[in-house]
Amino acid sequence: MSMQWDPLLGFSALFGAVQALDCSPSAIQSALPSNANVNFAYPLQAGSTFEVPEGDTGYPTNPVELPALCAVSVQVESIGDSTYGFGLFLPEDWNGRFLAVGNGGVAGGVNWLDMGPGTRYGFATMSTDTGHNSSMIDGSWAYKQPEKIENWGHLAMHGSVVTAKGITAAYYGKDISFNYYAGCSTGGRQGLKEAERYPEDFDGIIAGAPAWWTSRLQTWTVKTALYNLPTTADYHIPPALFPVIAKEVLKQCDPQDGLIDTIISDPTGCNFRPEELLCGANSTDASCLTSPQISTLYKFYTDSVGGNQTFLFPHVNLGSENLWFIMFGAAPNPLGTEYPRYFLGLGPDWSPYDLNEDVQRLADLDPGDATVKYDLSAFHGKGGKILSYHGMSDALIPTGSLTYFYNQVHRTLKPRGIELDSFFRAFLVPGMGHCSGTFPSTNAPWYFAGPNQAPSLGPAVHGVPGFEDKDHDVLLAMMAWVEEGDAPERIVATKYVDETSHDAVMRQRPLCMYPKQAKYEGSGDVDDASSWECKLLY
Ligand SMILES: *[C@@H]1O[C@H](CO)[C@@H](O)[C@H](O)[C@H]1NC(C)=O
Ligand SMILES: *[C@@H]1O[C@H](CO)[C@@H](O)[C@H](O)[C@H]1NC(C)=O
Ligand SMILES: *[C@@H]1O[C@H](CO)[C@@H](O)[C@H](O)[C@H]1NC(C)=O
Repeated sequence: MSMQWDPLLGFSALFGAVQALDCSPSAIQSALPSNANVNFAYPLQAGSTFEVPEGDTGYPTNPVELPALCAVSVQVESIGDSTYGFGLFLPEDWNGRFLAVGNGGVAGGVNWLDMGPGTRYGFATMSTDTGHNSSMIDGSWAYKQPEKIENWGHLAMHGSVVTAKGITAAYYGKDISFNYYAGCSTGGRQGLKEAERYPEDFDGIIAGAPAWWTSRLQTWTVKTALYNLPTTADYHIPPALFPVIAKEVLKQCDPQDGLIDTIISDPTGCNFRPEELLCGANSTDASCLTSPQISTLYKFYTDSVGGNQTFLFPHVNLGSENLWFIMFGAAPNPLGTEYPRYFLGLGPDWSPYDLNEDVQRLADLDPGDATVKYDLSAFHGKGGKILSYHGMSDALIPTGSLTYFYNQVHRTLKPRGIELDSFFRAFLVPGMGHCSGTFPSTNAPWYFAGPNQAPSLGPAVHGVPGFEDKDHDVLLAMMAWVEEGDAPERIVATKYVDETSHDAVMRQRPLCMYPKQAKYEGSGDVDDASSWECKLLY
């Protein structure tokens, strides 16, 4: 076995030969507390595919081309008669560290696919099934099941982390040096929840597009969809018109950020006039909006407030229109409707048209403690680091929900003498949708090896192909911050010409630490990250 020194990963190959336990069910069982049982444990040779067990609805895709590792599945008893399970990959060439990855939507299942890239860095990598078995958009498992909701809200992640760390240390016969977390969407929420409620679990947490405000996000999803329903209303904007709106928004907002480049970099700074889209007297084509439709557009771009003027939830950004079809179509996104039906217990017959302030008050009771609170002082106190990011063209979770959270944490901690820059940094990603990807006509740099991103480039990818360093790879950036105190000021995002071959780069651009924004310096190649600076533009 060769031994290669890497400044971040250490002697990555060194630990491979010294496993203290076999990769067998009985050996793994010996490392478990009495409330946990091994489902399976078996070795996989380098280059193997892990076959996702039959019936795993949440994440059915097999991770492929894995390094040599021990594949483990464990079931843990939780509150009442509920249980949760987790999967753990223990690579032969261990880097001495632990990584937990997150889930998506309301899915129940071990996210084996996202564990794959983690093992290629050398992490012992874990994912919890959150305590149930379902697809991303099916919340029926939660109906009258407060224990399952509590498992999904926080118990399953925390319990899986603690148990999996125990297995990891016993398996290698060595303490874990650093503990990391990486997740997006629900995974982002799980990471922030860990920081708030279980500050000892991780040293570094990457929380992408966090769905942190469970009690508000889902009701907002229903409420905003209703702005455009029923489809027979004169104010309804058919999804076929969303690209037309996107085009007009680009026309008005792209130049306002200082550079015409198909990327809206400063949506909150754009003064948009929807009336440019108004139909004339004899308009028959599908390229304009009526006056009632323009009123709907105003609602989409306005924060949601309660009847008493209480702020409820931020609006979608200008520049998110290309993704509206998943939110503002013929029915609300199921993630919105399932929440009142099953998490709030209103039943399968509950209609989105029944949304009212009573439903919001019920939601604000926050079943399962699934919403993240703002006091992250304990995580700060133990030296933990959080790196969060959000796509500016996300329509599933508005970008403003991350900046709202960031600013609320700031307002909570600064009066107590804690500067957020010291432990919590947020990066907004111009032109990126939900967790990954960019619209074909936008071509924004969006790839930085964030959670869920690698499979978009290819089944065997990890890190940023061609740019395997902390300036381009958010996980390496987090490791440098935690392990060397090298805090990331900016992260360079990459757009490849062809994302599946990823051999040529189309554009690179820095993502800046909120509230700074990337500013083109007026000279040099706009597609080269070095032509940009991160600045406060106010
Ligand atoms: C998970 O749910 C699917 C679909 O309902 C079912 O077919 C499968 O047997 C379940 N798997 C487990 C492990 O319970
Ligand atoms: C609209 O069409 C009518 C009938 O064809 C025509 O008389 C009128 O001039 C048109 N108006 C405009 C603004 O083009
Ligand atoms: C205002 O409305 C919000 C959302 O429905 C609710 O949480 C809050 O309690 C209300 N405040 C008052 C003073 O009624």
